[in-house]
Amino acid sequence: MSTDELVKAALAARLNAVAPYSNFKVGAALLTEEGRIYTGCNIENATYGLTVCAERVALWKALSEGERRFRRIAVSSQSERPATPCGSCRQLLWEYAGDIEIILANPQGRREKHQLKALFPEAFDASFLSGSL
Ligand code: THU
Repeated sequence: MSTDELVKAALAARLNAVAPYSNFKVGAALLTEEGRIYTGCNIENATYGLTVCAERVALWKALSEGERRFRRIAVSSQSERPATPCGSCRQLLWEYAGDIEIILANPQGRREKHQLKALFPEAFDASFLSGSL
């Protein structure tokens, strides 16, 4: 599975975004270790606060299908500099996918590549829960 194919899937998923309030459409494509792709788009609602980001939709779809091991995620958005994942998504990606590669892309062809650990250093995760006082 090439990076180009994953970006293409994220760009296609973005077209399904339900974003009537922000008009900011986001798509995500999460690649498993076995080479399967789970896509997602942002889904907004009238309360605003119940909005779910594209990354989380892709992650929930994959986890709910039994997937546990991930290789990289592509995230597409329309901004000139393609958007980075929000803090909540960074937390959840860290917990469920570890230090994965993140490819950011926009429809104009601009791309960036990051490791999650660089975007989300010193994260809180389950490792802190195992020690007792
Ligand atoms: N959004 C995402 O889906 N992913 C991101 O990485 C950044 C923000 C969505 C949430 C909301 O629907 C819209 O973009 C504007 O914040």
